[in-house]
Amino acid sequence: MKNTHHDIPPALIEALRNAQRVVVFTGAGVSAESGIATFRDALTGLWSRFDAQALATPQAFREHPDIVWGWYEWRRAQVLRAAPNAAHYAIAALQRHVPALTIVTQNVDDLHERAGATKVVHLHGSLHAPRCSACGAPHVVDDGPATVSSVIETHAEAHAETRAETHVGTPAGSNADTYADTHAASNADEGRRIPPPACTQCGAPVRPGVVWFGESLPSDAWSTALHAAQQCDLLFSIGTSALVYPAAELPQRALAAGATVVQVNPNATPLDAHAHCNLHGAAADIMPRVLAAAFDQRDEGLKGDQAP
Ligand code: APR
Repeated sequence: MKNTHHDIPPALIEALRNAQRVVVFTGAGVSAESGIATFRDALTGLWSRFDAQALATPQAFREHPDIVWGWYEWRRAQVLRAAPNAAHYAIAALQRHVPALTIVTQNVDDLHERAGATKVVHLHGSLHAPRCSACGAPHVVDDGPATVSSVIETHAEAHAETRAETHVGTPAGSNADTYADTHAASNADEGRRIPPPACTQCGAPVRPGVVWFGESLPSDAWSTALHAAQQCDLLFSIGTSALVYPAAELPQRALAAGATVVQVNPNATPLDAHAHCNLHGAAADIMPRVLAAAFDQRDEGLKGDQAP
């Protein structure tokens, strides 16, 4: 049988087999092969003139709630149509092999959970848990099949509406003629402005349940993540640019506490210089091979390849 994991370092295999506590710290790169654009990818279509970092702020939501809500609804529709990939499946399978494995993600999708992972710590919140911007009451979203199609239809409708628009403001920090090209948008899934729903408790606008730039991380999630990073034997940093703090502190805390740190990323990041092992490649390729090398679970790890 062909050895498909000959390039996974033996020291890593050994460390993983012997580890009692493991942390898997993930970023947007883990979901890239599920078709979800990473945060720093250029935005496309309607959103191409926006700066994602400017949209993801409380100020943008205050000034242009319909643009920001529309953007997050577009992202949520993308996630609803996506399926977990082989990396998500391999990580979920690892959770069954290691005595204690904590998954800490910066992603606001639910693809780890849909691959079978449990107790995922979401440092940056979730697209699927909007709440009132004033009183904090949760806003119920139905992610069943009806909603998937209605969100997608919403975006189909959007195209027609976009053509009729003559002017829209821009969020802080984005280009002035933001909407100039949107009239030429030809893909029905490119999104639109959508006014946020009103809170059923107090009537204030509902906001996405994500952590924006300038906001604090949910304290429970952060303390769980920090504790796990400081106590672990081995931390994987997978598909993250390792640039956004405080999340990017986690591999550093693990290193400082004496853990082995392994990075999986096709591109260089600031963590390259510090990690014990840098596996350069796509997470959906590498993580099933890591799993197979350590636990000889080729079929389980590759399940994502056959996912619908
Ligand atoms: N496999 C592994 N890594 C990949 C892949 C892949 N197939 N494709 C891309 N990557 C890597 C990129 O090289 C990059 O280093 O994923 C990383 C994605 O970086 P970002 O888009 O910056 O995502 P992330 O690190 O998760 O961003 C952190 O910043 O924008 C905020 O709140 C947002 O949670 C996000 C946080």
